[in-house]
Amino acid sequence: MTDLEGRTDLVTFTLNGREVAGRKGEQLIDACERNGVYIPRFCYHPRMRPVGMCRQCLVEVDTGRGPALTPSCMVNVTEGSSVDTDSHISKRAQEGVLEMLLINHPLDCPVCDKGGECPLQDQAYSHGPGESRFVEQKRHFEKPIPISATVYLDRERCILCDRCTRFASEVAGDPLIHFLDRGNETQVNTFPDEPFSSYFSGNTVQICPVGALTAAPYRFKARPWDLEQAESTCQTCSVGCRITVQTSRNRVLRYQGVDADPVNWGWLCDAGRFNFENIDHPDRLGEPLVRDESGELRPARWADALGAAASAIRQTIDGRGPDGVAVLGGARLTNEDAYAWAKLAKGVIGTDNVDAQLGDGLPAAAVLGLPRATIDQAAAPGGTILLLGPDPKEELPVLFLRLRHALAYDQARLVEITPAATGLTAFAGAAVRPLPGHTAEVVAAILAGRTTAAVGGADPAALAAAAGVLADTSRPLTVVLGRTTVAESADVVVEAAAAILAARPDARFLPALARGNVFGALDMGLAPGLLPGRVELDDGRAWFTDAWGSVPAAPGLDATGILTAAAEGRIDTLVLLGADPLADFPDADLAARALAGARTVIALDRFLTDSSSKADVVLPVAGFAECSGTTTNLEGRVSVVTQKVTPPGTARSDWMIAAELAFRLGADLGIESVEQAWAEVESLSPVHAGLTREVLERRANADGVVAPPAATPVGIGSPRTPIDPERTVESGPDAADAATEPTVESGDVVVADALAAHADQAADTATAGDADGDDAETPAEAADTDEAAAAPAPPSPLRFRAPDTTSTPGPLDAYALRLVATPTLYDRGTLLAHSPSLVELAPGPGLRLHRTDFDKLGVAEGDEVRVRSSSGSVLLPVSVHPGVPKGRAVVLTGQEGPQVTSLLSAGATAVDVRIEVP
Ligand code: SF4
Ligand code: SF4
Ligand code: FES
Repeated sequence: MTDLEGRTDLVTFTLNGREVAGRKGEQLIDACERNGVYIPRFCYHPRMRPVGMCRQCLVEVDTGRGPALTPSCMVNVTEGSSVDTDSHISKRAQEGVLEMLLINHPLDCPVCDKGGECPLQDQAYSHGPGESRFVEQKRHFEKPIPISATVYLDRERCILCDRCTRFASEVAGDPLIHFLDRGNETQVNTFPDEPFSSYFSGNTVQICPVGALTAAPYRFKARPWDLEQAESTCQTCSVGCRITVQTSRNRVLRYQGVDADPVNWGWLCDAGRFNFENIDHPDRLGEPLVRDESGELRPARWADALGAAASAIRQTIDGRGPDGVAVLGGARLTNEDAYAWAKLAKGVIGTDNVDAQLGDGLPAAAVLGLPRATIDQAAAPGGTILLLGPDPKEELPVLFLRLRHALAYDQARLVEITPAATGLTAFAGAAVRPLPGHTAEVVAAILAGRTTAAVGGADPAALAAAAGVLADTSRPLTVVLGRTTVAESADVVVEAAAAILAARPDARFLPALARGNVFGALDMGLAPGLLPGRVELDDGRAWFTDAWGSVPAAPGLDATGILTAAAEGRIDTLVLLGADPLADFPDADLAARALAGARTVIALDRFLTDSSSKADVVLPVAGFAECSGTTTNLEGRVSVVTQKVTPPGTARSDWMIAAELAFRLGADLGIESVEQAWAEVESLSPVHAGLTREVLERRANADGVVAPPAATPVGIGSPRTPIDPERTVESGPDAADAATEPTVESGDVVVADALAAHADQAADTATAGDADGDDAETPAEAADTDEAAAAPAPPSPLRFRAPDTTSTPGPLDAYALRLVATPTLYDRGTLLAHSPSLVELAPGPGLRLHRTDFDKLGVAEGDEVRVRSSSGSVLLPVSVHPGVPKGRAVVLTGQEGPQVTSLLSAGATAVDVRIEVP
């Protein structure tokens, strides 16, 4: 106890005769576990409110009035109490509960997915009576029944622990699974015709303590003892949930959520959880393809395909100059891949026409320059969240869960400034609905208190309510910032952000860009005008010229500029790094003209997409779980991704292809491994200094480290996070391993040490990856040379600059509606389209209207209408939607069928459409 003396947040109690310490307010079950005593449990889950449903955690507790059996998940640890988990009475109580739970359990463990990793099995052995006195007939139900497209329910196995039902209603807000009937007839089920269609249903499968809920994509695929696993980070969207990747015989069979305290709390969305099916999809590309003289894509040798790609790039450089080459995409790459491609494009080829975004995000300088919030800061108890971006439930689902928790349980407040309702609207203290194009104007009006008249389509009452919430400056303000719709110019959003920052300099921004590693790609310099480390081209010119040999002379084109230039014949070679502009760019016509206008298109992809199938050279690449490295989430958190299986055929990592192309262009990228690539990033990037691979791989930093590391404490768990035995069991490193690692607090020290070392060595190590590929000098050697002494100073990361222009859309005429184009979680994007369990979940194309606008059409729900803009027209089924305000036409992007991006026009402030009944 000596090291705990004087701490006021602790209570002391006696546990099985030992005096120990617990945290004030901590549940007894956690306090005991923290002190090395595991109490069996079924209903208790550290991320949900205790419910005392199963009584498995009964132990004898004496608070001064004599010992009494107490459910240890339902009481807090108290000063001076005495707890006896080993007493005869505690043990008999636990045995009795287990005996009762098994009365009706079918004991079909040999054919149950949960067998081998089942808490009921395990605790029956460790805390059960050994035999049962019950010989009566058990309950029988039809088994199993599908309750959604991905989840099966076997009611016979259910022990009525209330975990799934609590998760669905408390955590996800989708109360679609319940207890039905009463007494001995009680069963868990869905209501008829109301399937468990939740974006988060897979979490109930993971937390069900028996095999009552099983996942269709995993059923009967493997037994736990067949599985190998490694911890990694989901790259499906930019939340970056920590997962374990579980494999058997070189096949990925399951992802499980890991409880990363600063990120996902153990939860995953179903799109992330179940899209592993795409990894070994038969359509995966396993060999290069080159278009032959007859115009067909034919299999080719790597040497020929790389030769064709390099020769196209060389001819373009020689003929038109480096600016004739453009690189589009990169958000699905690892950081190391992205760095290699940034170095190839900017340091070797010499083009700055590079953009990881596809016109559907925000300008990189704004994303990287605004003061960044972490997820924890956005979801801080009592904070104010300003949602000025996409619906997080559709694009960043686990961020939605974190924000929802803050709003539902932690007294956070929400102001929503979006053109239509979102998954968080039910929690909004104020919901403002600007017409797309007027968002900045509406934000400015709210901040200035101009709320007595309608502004930009938003009504005065909503403006006043928003101003009221934001007036409370005692609450920290986090802006979740992104494109509320791709039919509104990104400039409008940047103007709104500038207005917020001017009015509330303390505000922090959580950028809501959805693509997997888009933040890593931007950090690595895959954006026009930027170099690795969030450095502007001019600011980093000396530093990176010293390291790379050269950098582009002037800022290049973004995605819109690249596609426009390609369409006009000014880009001869267009490289697509996993980008599919035909499907994704918010101007389908421009994307089509660009692909037709580029003389050579080189695609690095896992599948033949709309765009890569039009390429002249297709290079197959390794995807998630097939390559190792690091990734960066929307907070700037860098975490490790792990290779678990081999890529199909001869597919290889993107960095390897970059290195090969550099070699064929007569340069040496100086990168021969993922580790070498990261070491170079760490030595050159001012925001990654100190984040060595060794630091990132420390157990204390398993949840990742926010870059720059000095800006955010790392590895500090929330006080509400108890020790989670499931994490230790499920996520690889065993307890002994963890025990030898530094404590969580020491993670700070680890990074601080590395930072200090970096400060000493920065200039010396800057030459580590020079384009000649020479071995890096040791710091000691470099210190002795004049060259090192003259090395340029590391550049500073960029800072946000408010735009000096204002975007104003034209007036909306009386016959038009303002377009809102928005994605949904399930779409026909590459990953989901190749995941059989998810592919049918996409809602399909549709136009959603307010009742008033719908009634004017005189059509029935589901009838097809023609939506016409100045750029194009599409036929879509129309419906009334309660979340759509009057005057807006909401269309879903990324669905099968008519391409709604043909309605959009790149660069337009907003888009108006007319609805015609054919
Ligand atoms: Fe608990 Fe599983 Fe039954 Fe749900 S289905 S109540 S999680 S045992
Ligand atoms: Fe993956 Fe994003 Fe879903 Fe998390 S929220 S599981 S990162 S897709
Ligand atoms: Fe405590 Fe269920 S774990 S009552």
